[in-house]
Amino acid sequence: MRVLGIETSCDETGVALVDGERGLLAHALHSQVDLHEAYGGVVPELASRDHVRRLLPLTRKVLAEAGCTLADLDAIAVTEGPGLAGALLVGTSVAHALGYALRIPVIPIHHLEGHLLSPLISEPDLAFPFVALLVSGGHSQLMRVGGVGDYELLGDTLDDAAGEAFDKTAKLLGLGYPGGPAVAKAALAGAAGRLKLPRPMIASDDLEMSFSGLKTAVLTLVRAQAALTAATVADIAAEFQEAVTDVLCAKSIGALARTGLDTLVVAGGVGANLRLREKLDAAMRRRGARVVYPPVALCTDNGAMIAWAGALRLREGRMPAAASDVGASGFGVRPRWPLDSLQRP
Ligand code: KG4
Ligand code: ZN
Repeated sequence: MRVLGIETSCDETGVALVDGERGLLAHALHSQVDLHEAYGGVVPELASRDHVRRLLPLTRKVLAEAGCTLADLDAIAVTEGPGLAGALLVGTSVAHALGYALRIPVIPIHHLEGHLLSPLISEPDLAFPFVALLVSGGHSQLMRVGGVGDYELLGDTLDDAAGEAFDKTAKLLGLGYPGGPAVAKAALAGAAGRLKLPRPMIASDDLEMSFSGLKTAVLTLVRAQAALTAATVADIAAEFQEAVTDVLCAKSIGALARTGLDTLVVAGGVGANLRLREKLDAAMRRRGARVVYPPVALCTDNGAMIAWAGALRLREGRMPAAASDVGASGFGVRPRWPLDSLQRP
């Protein structure tokens, strides 16, 4: 059973081919970082247009690398939401056109479900249930994952997502875009603790998070400096990274304690942060718990996680309902789509 995966929800065009028995056969990614850099954030219309340019060449590349043709495909998994409407439409248009032409099913995948299940790509034997820390540009959530399609929200951010806070802090510090890797790089040359930032909600008796106050604290700190030297920028970056990762680590431990589970899975772009990984590794070792990360290349948006989620859903016969009921050949997108609305059939 071979599933082609297509991801175009934001600023990465991702395509991958997964084989039910042999695993990931090939994947290809085009990042639009250079395209949006000058604007300091993703410009939706530019994103859609670039997906149009990239998607078919990437699909050809993936098929060639896997030594397959379109005739070998059994299904197509595509990100149907959440994300930018225009960008999502590029992926769903291509997926449904191919599905219609090849007479094979199109599986609509929730982008965050792709992230949640992505650690299974490198650890196919990972057993449910586990706690997932989902930290991306748009989300900071702790979920209890009981199985494919069985997701319970344990805690969420009340405002900005962790990745968003990294991106905004990078902007305040005059670092590049996207902010996460830029702040992490700057932090290497700095020392945390010289300048102090808060650890928002770290001691709250729940699993909720909040990162927008932290960004404001960075702004206050930046304004208080006589000159924003490279050394000060590095110190603020280091302290900021320390603050965010302290909170994420404490809340992850809280989620394990609350659920009584002993496996933590980390997913989403911020999961690529090496300081976060160091802290979680140490904390989990102390608890005798296990922590699983997708390979760094699969932490940020990619087609492999979508193909993988599609293959798992196909294998388990748990196909999510499609976005629209506009007719047998119709399709749609869900720019807003709460993950916990995915119910086990
Ligand atoms: O999962 P992702 O690729 O896209 C979304 O679905 O949002 O996550 C992107 C986010 C961005 O905010 C980016 O700054 C952040 O992940 N990110 C990082 C790192 N690499 C990417 N944040 C901290 N440290 C990193 N190394
Ligand atoms: Zn993502």
